Amino acid sequence: MTDPEMYERFGLENFPECYKEYADLLTWYQYWHTTLDTSDAPCWKWFVGGKINASYNCVDRHLAKYKNKAAIIYVPEPEDEAHSVLTYQELYVRVNEVAALLRDFAGLKAGDRVTLHMPMVPELPITMLACARLGLIHSEVYGGFSGQACGERIADCGSRVLITIDGYYRNGKLLDHKEKTDLAVEVAEKKGQAVDKVLVWRRYTGKYISETAMEEGRDYFMDDVLKDYADKKVDPVPMPAEDPLFLMYTSGTTGKPKGCQHSTGGYMAYVAGTSKYVQDIHPEDVYWCMADIGWITGHSYIVYGPLALAATSVMYEGVPTYPDAGRAWRIAAQLDVNIFHTAPTTIRMLRKAGPDEPQKYNYHFKHMTTVGEAIEPQVWKWYHEIVGKGEAVIVDTWWQTETGGFLCSTLPALHPMKPGSTGPAVPGIYPVIYDENGNEIQAGSGKAGNICIRNPWPGAFQTIWGDRERYVAQYYQMYCKNKDSKDWRDWPYFTSDAAVQAEDGYYRILGRVDDVINVAGHRLGTKEVESACLFVPEIAEASVVPLGDQVRGRVPDVYVSLKPGHEPSKEIEKAVTKSIEITIGKIARPKHVYIVPDMPKTRSGKIMRRVLAAISNGRDVGDVTTLANADIVEEIRKMVQGE
Ligand code: WTA
Repeated sequence: MTDPEMYERFGLENFPECYKEYADLLTWYQYWHTTLDTSDAPCWKWFVGGKINASYNCVDRHLAKYKNKAAIIYVPEPEDEAHSVLTYQELYVRVNEVAALLRDFAGLKAGDRVTLHMPMVPELPITMLACARLGLIHSEVYGGFSGQACGERIADCGSRVLITIDGYYRNGKLLDHKEKTDLAVEVAEKKGQAVDKVLVWRRYTGKYISETAMEEGRDYFMDDVLKDYADKKVDPVPMPAEDPLFLMYTSGTTGKPKGCQHSTGGYMAYVAGTSKYVQDIHPEDVYWCMADIGWITGHSYIVYGPLALAATSVMYEGVPTYPDAGRAWRIAAQLDVNIFHTAPTTIRMLRKAGPDEPQKYNYHFKHMTTVGEAIEPQVWKWYHEIVGKGEAVIVDTWWQTETGGFLCSTLPALHPMKPGSTGPAVPGIYPVIYDENGNEIQAGSGKAGNICIRNPWPGAFQTIWGDRERYVAQYYQMYCKNKDSKDWRDWPYFTSDAAVQAEDGYYRILGRVDDVINVAGHRLGTKEVESACLFVPEIAEASVVPLGDQVRGRVPDVYVSLKPGHEPSKEIEKAVTKSIEITIGKIARPKHVYIVPDMPKTRSGKIMRRVLAAISNGRDVGDVTTLANADIVEEIRKMVQGE
């Protein structure tokens, strides 16, 4: 995208019709009669009357030109295991076979929900695309989640079929995954949802690597059953554009997970458009997004967006630093990856494990994406200079599970990069920042407030599965001007993020509104404080939480971990405080600086500030069993609170 007029074409005066440009990247059975139907506000419907199939758009339509081109290159974690390549033709064959099985063996039909509980194996996108082919609504539960978590999600969406796998590699270990199934089914059943079939992929065809027994009459090996469906073809079902394509559960800080319902036509149009224009993906590119498909990033930007554009999408099974800090860069060099996509947490991890590793490998990125949290300028710099070798542009993409695709980002050919800022809104997105009282904060004023989106867009989720009330309450009530209105102008979308907009129009995301620390009436983004910590050369990661303070209301408490080769010392603690004072001001001075061996993290690598905040404030840390490193919590607690 080198044409600045794109922003005019996507101007509000051309809204919502402008989104035809994205929709036209797809192949439709039938065009829509209504681009945006607002009659059920704020449940927006896009491209109503249109008929489309996501599987057809990601697979079949590419066969004429690209049948022998790699669609997915799969890199297993064990380095002695060969990569596997699925050409578009092979993907087509396998998606059809699985679709035939789901229809004829599992008895599933359009509109049924199917829960997938799968790690990063090629069978995951194959299964998703097979579901999409039939109009089944897939609900992929991140592989690292427990059986309990999976069971709750099965029950919530009412799926009677669970698709899983026997095991997979993570950090050098072959994990037993099937062992989670019995509990998942039990939990679902307790909540009133019977599961009558569990379809089990095998990591190694024909060889079962789980210790857990298969339950007769309930559990079936996919590779066995698929023999009956060899070479079967299933016509893609033309789906109404506004029918759901999938559910993606996301957790709030409390309460039960929300099943974000994404549409078929609108979602596909949005992820295809943003993949193309923000990530510059072409069929010739080798694109590697290191996220897990179990999260929204993987759905939108490993599977649906890139495949809709006939790209080659790389999937890696395991941990980017296994068996050593050079692994990611070896993969990039071997496959000649030229577009790379990951999250700040991973960048920090790679930087910590091997700050000089990228130089050792001969790869060349033209483009790099970062997503998921604000990236500290120091980390950004390493990403740019060392990972990108100064050759690649970076886009810092801000969005959410609920939004389907990017909301803010620079477009590489049109905007300069600005470390730590996501950039302006992407075409067709109109953010607004409100204060607590619903007044608009002046654009470009640099004042913090709640960032909202004025207008609907095709990638936005449609509702929370089975809970429209919560959908309205959580996302649209806050700044709604008139609850009876059918005009989208009255229903800004509340993101729960705080942000500032600089004079140049770039947004900087300060974090979730619950992550904002109000210190003596001054708003401090925890991210700002953390960035400041990272200026200290010994610091690898930093996390800042609010500590209750009688005089100032709240003060920041700082947790940091060190790069290898450094020992905790009073000097480092002092340097952190000093750096915060220098970067932000004395107002942000932390009460404590704790040097910890590691941060408590979710399995997707997000630092659990909630847990640290609880420790700081002497509160119960709650259930930490789902963390990637639960043991660290007790260690930190002892350090902070004593025995
Ligand atoms: C945060 C991930 C700063 C934000 C796609 C948002 C970011 C939440 C960025 C959504 C970014 C995401 N800069 N913050 N580039 N991207 N966030 O649902 O707080 O896992 O609300 O979606 O991550 O996280 P989610």
